[in-house]
Amino acid sequence: TTIHRLDYREYPFNIENVALHFDLHETSTRITSTLSVSSKENWPADLVLNGEDIRLVAVSINGKALGEHQYSLNEQTLVVPSLQGQFELSIVSECNPQENSTLMGLYVSGNSFFTQCEAEGFRRITFFPDRPDVMSTYTVTICADKARYPYLLSNGNLCASTDLPDGRHQATWEDPFRKPSYLFALVAGDFDIREKHATTQSGREVLLQVYSDKGSGHQTEWALESLENAMKWDEARFGLELDLDRFMIVAVRDFNMGAMENKGLNIFNAAYVLADPNTATDANYEGIESVIGHEYFHNWTGNRITCRDWFQLSLKEGLTVFRDQEFSADMMARNLDASAAASARAIKRIDDVTRLRTAQFPEDAGPMAHPIRPESYQEIANFYTATIYEKGAEVIRMQHTLLGEEGFRAGMDEYFSRHDGQAVTCDDFINVMESVYTQRNPGKDLSLFRNWYSQAGTPRVTVQLAYNEAQQRCSITLSQSCAPVGVEKLQNGFVKKPFHIPFSMGFISQSGQPLMLQFEGRPQTTVLLELIEESQTWHFDQISERPIPSLLRDFSAPVIVDYPWNQQELAILCAHDSNPFARWEAVQALSSNELLRIAALLAQGGQPELDPALLQVWQTNLTDPSLDAGYRAWLLTLPSEKVLAERMTPIEPVAIARARDFVREKLANGLLDLWQQTLGQNETPGRYSPDAISAGRRSLKNLALAYLLSIQNPSAIQAAFAQYQNASNMTDRLGALSALVSHYEGDERDEALAQFYEQWQHDPLVVDKWFALQANARHTNAQTILGLMAHPAFNLRNPNRARSLIFQFCINNTEGLHKSDGSGYAFWADQVIALDGINPEIAARLARVMDNWSRYAPALKAGMQQALKRVEAHPGLSKNVFEIVSKALNI
Ligand code: ARG
Ligand code: ZN
Repeated sequence: TTIHRLDYREYPFNIENVALHFDLHETSTRITSTLSVSSKENWPADLVLNGEDIRLVAVSINGKALGEHQYSLNEQTLVVPSLQGQFELSIVSECNPQENSTLMGLYVSGNSFFTQCEAEGFRRITFFPDRPDVMSTYTVTICADKARYPYLLSNGNLCASTDLPDGRHQATWEDPFRKPSYLFALVAGDFDIREKHATTQSGREVLLQVYSDKGSGHQTEWALESLENAMKWDEARFGLELDLDRFMIVAVRDFNMGAMENKGLNIFNAAYVLADPNTATDANYEGIESVIGHEYFHNWTGNRITCRDWFQLSLKEGLTVFRDQEFSADMMARNLDASAAASARAIKRIDDVTRLRTAQFPEDAGPMAHPIRPESYQEIANFYTATIYEKGAEVIRMQHTLLGEEGFRAGMDEYFSRHDGQAVTCDDFINVMESVYTQRNPGKDLSLFRNWYSQAGTPRVTVQLAYNEAQQRCSITLSQSCAPVGVEKLQNGFVKKPFHIPFSMGFISQSGQPLMLQFEGRPQTTVLLELIEESQTWHFDQISERPIPSLLRDFSAPVIVDYPWNQQELAILCAHDSNPFARWEAVQALSSNELLRIAALLAQGGQPELDPALLQVWQTNLTDPSLDAGYRAWLLTLPSEKVLAERMTPIEPVAIARARDFVREKLANGLLDLWQQTLGQNETPGRYSPDAISAGRRSLKNLALAYLLSIQNPSAIQAAFAQYQNASNMTDRLGALSALVSHYEGDERDEALAQFYEQWQHDPLVVDKWFALQANARHTNAQTILGLMAHPAFNLRNPNRARSLIFQFCINNTEGLHKSDGSGYAFWADQVIALDGINPEIAARLARVMDNWSRYAPALKAGMQQALKRVEAHPGLSKNVFEIVSKALNI
């Protein structure tokens, strides 16, 4: 069944308070829930409660037990008909946490109990109106064996704890803030704790705590530091303070997503908490900082102001991703001089845009395409997508661009003053932002901007430049178009309306200098054009030569730009564009053109040659002393297979991979000495630090190593082994090992892999890296993966492990997945089916690998379709996987 946004109806009852009592036992936990209920209207209504996979023991109203004829119960709901007024409803139910492999609701991981309730997990704990617009205060009492579960945690403040008979004990928690059920959390177990007292802006003392597996306490230093930084940042940038006396983060090894913002008790995938220099890479450190920030920022954007219904998910996720992106950028740029800070920010932007292009652009062009505020869904868990999160953040960022930092802050202040404590909609948010925008820009509004919330697809902006030498005038015409995508294609007569596109640009002279432009009454080198019609033209005067346009600076809108630069113009931008993001874009454009030309040639069996212009650009950027290492590493990285595939019709994945090999080898051979020098010049001796400058050096060094190993350069192979053996941090160790595993065939490769496992088998997050390395390696095929799945350390029930091997292979190992014998597709289908029996949410994520099957070359397409059909026909498929495969086959 499909749920539609426009079918929203208010819940007819208020639930003032929820009192929960948990009697925790691994295989049978008894939960008593007492709800104080009052009807909103003066007439009777049915009280509909959700409940899944739980056993009803008893239900009573005002202390009087209800007989079986007084309610109705099915697989999804418990309905008590025709109720009115105020009453107390009490429900006793049971669940089995030990057997709960879905990791939604209450489950056991390791030796502890955890919960995950967003989006619809609370109904797997107790019968309840499990929807975000029902907000209540919670009092939670937890009873459990004291020796096994010394820590009993829930949301809010601890108000009592006592010992009980039989070696049990109990704790009672009270959360003073009204919240929806999806923000409920409970944890019970034994942990290492790292904690710190901090003082908020207004002078309140708060306790920050990080709980993790016994024995992992030495790995939580960075997490706690990140939490404190996040707290300070939200105060400084948005004036938002922590509203509780204590803020807890708990790491868990089995978790479906990254983390969860439960009020006062965030539960995190251990991968986003645990780090030390020896086990975590620079990328891990960055990921931890950003996810800790993300969940912390949800306290205001998500918890204090929450969503009315799940169609509004991007209200909290898009906004919170925008906030975490800004947090990371500010952290990376901290303590740097102006130019290093600008390039650190550009790196963060490049990283985020790359993520958008690899995950969201394909989604927006495929069967699952949806607006950031979807119109319908079958299973909400399938809509925690790159579109809701990443494109959602871009839509917020455009509002930030249109309002400016100060205007955006004024809008946020107004948002909290209007809606604190409420469950609201995306419209409520944009109404607030529009009020500020209109106030500051009389006569303008955001009416067209709202189309970003209702229409899917990536708009294409075509740019035309006309230069009139006699008038010294340069004219820029922007035209937008966006074809119907996803379900839009199924709607007869669907017409897309134009988007409001903030388009940032500048001009570069033929000699590489930025041009000063007269625009809106002042001289500027970067101008912001607001495209609101299908096509508009802007004129710039006193331009004394035909300029080269530098377009969509800082990626001011999530669109695709079409402009016919010639290779020479691109080469100038690649070396001189004063906007570091646009300079990187120019390199991407130049190298994409070249890679796609070569891929097409290879697909037809041709013999390619490399355009010397590309080698020249690489040489310039490799040696430009004004650029810091991290930014240079991005400039010198070829566009990914996924990004290239978006521009190829039909997609020939193996030709793309071969083209990248070819170009990489040419760039390695052509600049051999420079790569070797780069290796030696970017060591980071001394104590490990994950700061942007040091991490940048390591990434450039490891990139050089990868280039050199791609041509089996003997001294680089030696250098890689030496780096592997002597590394004092995981970034260097893994950088060397992955270069070897990807490119080197000798016996020492397998020895190094075996040794790595031997050394790190006690640390699950490092074992994940070990599996991932092999999943991505060149000659790995489905057979290899099946072999690795038989390894004692493999466990399909642990999502991190499944992701490290199966997902890595299916998502990143193009050649292995697309083997012409169909073995990759058969493997995919088997694993989707196997996972679906364990954890439908994870299975549905894997199912999405085939989203864009119809855009592949004919032989591949047929094999992918066949595999999809096999999954679709599998009896007992979850609605999660069914939604994905049926849409893939039918849209
Ligand atoms: N709200 C969480 C976050 O973005 C994600 C939780 C999603 N959970 C799920 N089971 N799909 O931080
Ligand atoms: Zn989130």
